[in-house]
Formats: sequence, structure tokens, C-alpha cells
Amino acid sequence: MSVLESERQNETEVAQSATGVVDVARVEEFAEKVAGDHAVAVNAVLAYLGDRLGLWKALASVPSATSRELSERSGLAERYVREWLSAEAAAGYVEYDPDGSRFRLPPEHAAVLADDSSPAALAGTFELTAGLWASVDRLAHVYATGEGFGWHEHDSRMFNGVDRFFRPLYNSSLVEQWLPAVDGVVARLASGIRVLDVGCGLGSATLLMAETFPASTFTGVDYHDESIVRASASAARAGGSDRVRFERAGAEDYTGGPYDLICFFDALHDMGDPVAALRHARAELADDGVVLAVEPFANDRLEDNLTPLGLSYYAASATICVPNSLSQSGQAALGAQAGPGRIVDAFHEAGFGTARQAAATPFNLVIEGRA
Ligand SMILES: C[S@@+](CC[C@H](N)C(=O)[O-])C[C@H]1O[C@@H](n2cnc3c(N)ncnc32)[C@H](O)[C@@H]1O
Repeated sequence: MSVLESERQNETEVAQSATGVVDVARVEEFAEKVAGDHAVAVNAVLAYLGDRLGLWKALASVPSATSRELSERSGLAERYVREWLSAEAAAGYVEYDPDGSRFRLPPEHAAVLADDSSPAALAGTFELTAGLWASVDRLAHVYATGEGFGWHEHDSRMFNGVDRFFRPLYNSSLVEQWLPAVDGVVARLASGIRVLDVGCGLGSATLLMAETFPASTFTGVDYHDESIVRASASAARAGGSDRVRFERAGAEDYTGGPYDLICFFDALHDMGDPVAALRHARAELADDGVVLAVEPFANDRLEDNLTPLGLSYYAASATICVPNSLSQSGQAALGAQAGPGRIVDAFHEAGFGTARQAAATPFNLVIEGRA
């Protein structure tokens, strides 16, 4: 079926459109892709509802269920549950057996959608997306004016979703891959040192390190009040040790040094002035201290970041990271796909004698700097 008045030029069916002569087959192919992306985007709303309303967990708790059974189990209205299940079967998230109209969430899918402690947990990404849609009018405004949009101004689903997205990565990579990539740091943490986590957010990385290295002390700082309140509450729930504390402070105005290890977990590129943040870290660092920046994986060139992972990070950067950086003095707007070269340059510009990429893992770069 041709979507445009067309004619054959050599072997290609072409047509005149408002944007010029187009190859009809390519128009149809791209329209199919966009239609697919649209379906995925709308299904993100349902996936979020599945997370928020406990439907994924309820379905994961039984071998299979009819819509009636799942509605009773979840306490939700059967007609909605039936349509939700049908959509999730069409999405390939849920399996459907017409024999008895039964739906099943395979354990492999449950590990991604119904268990936040799983290393493959991704349900939080839909909470993040819901938070971004809640801020879309504000984003439209800042795109038009060039103003910034601070982390603290976002709907709380955004930073809650970010924390849920990163936590499985921290659980699988922080202690196993990132810290061992920096010479001597693991031994020093085991022996007992003072650690600072700058831009600590809800404190997941800080608390994981504190749990793993009982001989060391940990401070998390963030300019965002609500994040610090929630991180402190998590610390209290984790037993409230005096080895861990969270305080509200900006990346250029905290005190309490010298620290032996200063970390930036997925935060340096968000800051208005990453160089000033690194310069302040250097000033608060012990002479033999190390600064560790874990950043989203990226190559130095855009053309090398045109991947599904690159899309995920650029999309987050265009809605969260760059707007936040533009909302702060410096407005460096490095973005979440700055690449190792720019991050290492920022360390050098901040006066670090040595700075290098210590490791690259599938989702992250590990950059270390020494005074
Ligand atoms: C992507 S989040 C990462 C949070 C946490 N490190 C984690 O990995 O879950 C970035 C954090 O940096 C914080 N942040 C941004 N600019 C900051 C600044 N100038 N000073 C302190 N914190 C800042 C934000 O409030 C946010 O919590």
C-alpha cells in the first residue's frame, strides 16, 4: 500500500512530499519504526502502572493467572487488569495461553520487572519516565528559553527512578569492578579511611560501600534537600551507624576534609561547574588521596555513541543532566555522554597531577585522579 502519490524511478517507488522527493519504501519502513516506538512509549505507562500498582509482583507470585484471578490478587478492577494483561502479552512482557485465558510472567521477566533486588531490575526506569513526563511542560519552557531545570525541581518519581535504575549496577559493579580498578583503594577501604560521596542522591552507593567496608567512615553530600532526608532515613533503616552520615552541601562548598577517597557516582557531568567541583575535591583531599568519578559509558565522539545505550544516556542527558547543569553557576552542561577525554581534561584543568580512565565497563567509565 503506497502512502503517497507515487511513480517508479528506476526500481525505486518515489513520491513528492512536503519535504521533497522521497523513497516510498523508506518512508514506510521508517513510519513502521516510529509506530513501533510509539507503542513502546505508550506501553511504558502500563509498565509503570504494573510497577506502581503491584501487578508485576502479583503476577510473579503465581505460576499463571486469569485476569479475574489477578484482579482479586491485586485488588484492582478486573476490566482494567484484563486490558493491561492483553497489552503486556502483545508487548512480549507476559505470556498468554488461550487455553483457559491464562497469563504468565516468566521468572526471567520477573527478575527484570518484579524484583528490585535483582541485578537485572529495570522496573524503576518506568518510574523515571513517568517523572519526566510529569515535567514535560517545564522542559518545553527551558528548551525555548535556555534556562536550567534543577534536579530538585523534578517530580520525585524521576530521582526515585534514577536511584532504582542505578542501584542494581552499583550492587553488581561498584565493589566487584569499579573500586578494584583504582590501585590500592580496596585495601585502604578495608584498613579504614575517610570517604566522601559527592552528589550522593538517595545514598545507595554510599550505603553499599559502608556495608562492605566496616573499618572506613562515609559521608554523602548533595545540594538536594529531599535526597539527603531520604538517604539519612535509609541509613537509619540500615542500622544507623555513626560511620555513615549525609549532609546537605554543594559540590563546591562542603567541608570536613581531608578525605582519603572522594567519589562522584554518575554526578560530575550533572554539575554546573565540574572543574570547580574537582578543584574543591582536590582541596579537601588528603595528600595521598584519590578522586574517583564513575560516569555513564561513552566514547569521545558522537558518531561512536549512536547505540541503544547511547540513546538511553543522551535521552536522560537532554531531560535531566544538561538542564540541571544549566540551572547552576558555570553552566558547563557536559552532558551524560561527555566521553573519557573531556572528563580527564576536567581533572587536569582542576589541577590534578595524574588523571586517567581506570576502567570501562558495559554501562560506565571509571576515571581516577590524584593530586
Ligand atoms: C544522577 S544523580 C546520582 C545520584 C547518586 N550519586 C547515585 O548514583 O544514585 C546526580 C546527583 O547529583 C546531585 N547534584 C547535582 N549537582 C550538584 C551540585 N552542584 N552539588 C551537589 N550535588 C549535586 C543531584 O542532586 C543528584 O542527586
